[in-house]
Amino acid sequence: MIIAPSILSMDFSKIPTQLAELEKTEAQWLHVDIMDGHFVPNLTFGPDFVKSIRNQTKLLMDVHIMVSDPVYFADVFIEAGADLITFHYEALNDPQKVSRLIHHIQSKGKKAGLSIKPATPVELLYPFLKDLDLVLVMSVNPGFGGQAFMPESLVKVSQLKHQIQLMESSCLIQIDGGINQDTAVMALNSGVDCLVAGSYVFKNNIAKAIKTLWENQ
Ligand code: DX5
Ligand code: ZN
Repeated sequence: MIIAPSILSMDFSKIPTQLAELEKTEAQWLHVDIMDGHFVPNLTFGPDFVKSIRNQTKLLMDVHIMVSDPVYFADVFIEAGADLITFHYEALNDPQKVSRLIHHIQSKGKKAGLSIKPATPVELLYPFLKDLDLVLVMSVNPGFGGQAFMPESLVKVSQLKHQIQLMESSCLIQIDGGINQDTAVMALNSGVDCLVAGSYVFKNNIAKAIKTLWENQ
């Protein structure tokens, strides 16, 4: 199981200290939410911020781009130091363009992830499972941290797990939104490989919160 704390819920006045704290835990990835104020009604970090974080941590940089133009921003954030770029199906809404961007990201030596919002049917992801490194099931409407987990997202996780096994794909399943000690158990039982957790990690004692997630597996 992989734990990816989401930087969105960090105390921004203590970034270096909190990054150092994370390095001592079981967390292997750092989830960085990029929002453009257009695809979602919130605006977050630019490439200079991501570059600075890159230089302060050895954690894998898992960059979730909630933007209307993922083709443009994938390169911007790869340049800034992302190891994994996850973009949204809804932003392109065209299987050929989605496939092209997955291959483009991988041609730069980076991992490619594809995400869907809660209202988007999971079947749209199936044609890409053989190529993708990761699928991200949103368990809240993207835009803000601290929202309540949507249990219906677990049906999507089970369906994806089934498809991935059928296809003998190595694609990982990530879940993002409302993850805490209890919802993590539900997600893991449904087949999730990677938990994103923002407020649960950073609004509590960081080390203890990550330990409770880790011990759930
Ligand atoms: C929401 C973001 C999440 C967010 C999760 O749009 O994609 O990554 O940080 O925050 P929590 O864990 O607080 O729901
Ligand atoms: Zn996210």
